[in-house]
Amino acid sequence: MENKTTHTILLIWTHLCRFVLAGLFLFSGFVKAVDPPGFTYKIQDYLAAFGVAGWFPFFFPLFVAIFVSAIEFCIGVFLFFGIRKHLSVTLALLLMLFMTPFTLYLAIANPVSDCGCFGDAWILTNWQTFWKNVCLLIAAVTLFRWRKLMVRFISRKSEWLVSMYTLIFIFFLSFYCLRYLPILDFRPYRIGTDIRQAMAIPEGARPAVVETVFILEKEGKRQEFTLENYPYADSSWQFVDRKDVVLEKGYEPPIHDFSLTETQTGEDITDLVLTDPGYSFLLVVHRVERADDSRIDLINEIYDYSLEHGYGFYALTSSPDEEIESWRDRTGAEYLFCRVDDITLKTIIRANPGLLLIRDGVILRKWSNARIPDEYVLHDKLENLELGQLEVPRDASTIGKVFFWFVIPLLLVLVADFFFIKRRDSGKEEDTYHINPLITNKMRKNIVAGNWKMNKTLQEGIELATSLNEALAGETPKCDVVICTPFIHLASVTPVVDAEKIGVGAENCADKEAGAYTGEVSAAMVASTGARYVILGHSERRAYYGETVEILREKVKLALANGLTPIFCIGEVLEEREAGKQNEVVFGQLASVYSLSPEDFSKIVLAYEPVWAIGTGKTATSAQAQEIHAYIRSTIAEKYGQEIADTTSILYGGSCNASNAAELFANPDVDGGLIGGASLKVADFKAIIDAF
Ligand code: 13P
Repeated sequence: MENKTTHTILLIWTHLCRFVLAGLFLFSGFVKAVDPPGFTYKIQDYLAAFGVAGWFPFFFPLFVAIFVSAIEFCIGVFLFFGIRKHLSVTLALLLMLFMTPFTLYLAIANPVSDCGCFGDAWILTNWQTFWKNVCLLIAAVTLFRWRKLMVRFISRKSEWLVSMYTLIFIFFLSFYCLRYLPILDFRPYRIGTDIRQAMAIPEGARPAVVETVFILEKEGKRQEFTLENYPYADSSWQFVDRKDVVLEKGYEPPIHDFSLTETQTGEDITDLVLTDPGYSFLLVVHRVERADDSRIDLINEIYDYSLEHGYGFYALTSSPDEEIESWRDRTGAEYLFCRVDDITLKTIIRANPGLLLIRDGVILRKWSNARIPDEYVLHDKLENLELGQLEVPRDASTIGKVFFWFVIPLLLVLVADFFFIKRRDSGKEEDTYHINPLITNKMRKNIVAGNWKMNKTLQEGIELATSLNEALAGETPKCDVVICTPFIHLASVTPVVDAEKIGVGAENCADKEAGAYTGEVSAAMVASTGARYVILGHSERRAYYGETVEILREKVKLALANGLTPIFCIGEVLEEREAGKQNEVVFGQLASVYSLSPEDFSKIVLAYEPVWAIGTGKTATSAQAQEIHAYIRSTIAEKYGQEIADTTSILYGGSCNASNAAELFANPDVDGGLIGGASLKVADFKAIIDAF
């Protein structure tokens, strides 16, 4: 009972971890995919902060940004659906193992102000990010350890559809937002923003004291200037960069860094532009040297259009004068250039170049380079066009569209999977619908095998087998049923049982093929009785008859060669368990079967039987059994790969009876039992079979 409760708690905890991780990965992947340039800038910040920006080609940050958001999103979806568990859980764990110490470093050293893990949608401080990652790491470790408990919502047959659609969706979203601007804008320069209002400081609030610092260069020497000592008179100083230095922290309005300085006169025209009651176009080219000039004709046309109708037109950049000149030469630009902080420009619009339409300080429209309006759209004065009106962002409708294009198709797959695949395949064990992973999430057989040991005369044995056969007559057991009898019973028992329902096996066979081995019974002889199984390596044979790893290796080989399924037993004695050496011991015993080819290995059944639990009435606890079964399976995975590990049945033996069987078999890695004493009474044995 206690174990059952522990298991239920573990199941709930694992699923809590799963959905929290899935939710956060989905959110984080999605908000990054919505704004690929934003995450690209963040990666550039990281590379610059670590002084390695020059090590990578220019496209590297963007490539990483798109790739990471896709990985995060896919992990989220896979965890949610419980598909590709090994991959998604391992990736989640690896990501958290990297991110947790990394964010600890960020929190301590502060090389960047926020980690950018949720884009601009949810900005956390570096310490908040670190603690969030500690929680997620715990969740990832839990899931990694108990991933088998994860309930799968969709069959294996349909999981590729979910995976492919998720990948296509997330890459499409990234490229769409890269080309046409983020579909959701979490930054302070959203359409509809009144820039002046967003810059205002409420009455009584103390503003931060910020100083603008200009970095200028003359004869290879760089120097910083403020507005007070700016060398307006000396034109030999070349502009390199500008930054805002916070001298004193205070209330920070949503927009605190919007300031336009005319490049030629050095005049601050921020107020002039923001208070203009007419329309103004702001062409944002955060770095002219890196801007896409493929649609420059359209931009020049809009400039002409502005002149014609008396609208303002300003280009905003953070590039130095010579780059602006080269842009003018290259594109024939005649418009006014204003210098604005680089980060501010990248925040205003995620395009280079990008275009804004403002009136009276309010942002009315935004266009990426790919969507700059042409003469057909601008066929009249803005006052007469819909384009001249505020385009109110409709986030709810955008989210609705995303829902429609992503969630609805997946729901349809889910429904189709449920009605077609699941129904058609119900009954086939390898593709059962995994509603209860403890019982059904298996690609392997559940088996209940009896080991009669040295009990029952021939007549008693026949009677027992006949009664068991009768007891199972009208039933369909949910597991394979096997009885392993002394040699002399085999030939008489096989004809009295229904071979479809009950398999018969021996308890041993010789390690020699045939010949002068008085008293021995060969595997071929066992098979000739109609028996299909043979118990090998039982602890009683190891202890009383000196069966070694080598002898057992021969027996297993001969059994397989004669078409028998070995039920190979392993297990530690009490002293070994008390010394915590059980894993070591069973691993050593498995050497008899770990030399088999993968094909042969996949034909055997394993039985873990702790010697201290055999015939003693002392069972391993459910947790002990699960733990060592999982360990055994992990060694199979290491040796033969996950697929064979997942298809190998591992039975538990040792005082297994009607009252504890259900609890033991509920463990994901316990695939049935090898039953001694309780297999000698039909009612007891049947009750154990019914535990499935
Ligand atoms: P008991 O079920 O009697 O403990 O025996 C277990 C066993 O050795 C089965 O092979």
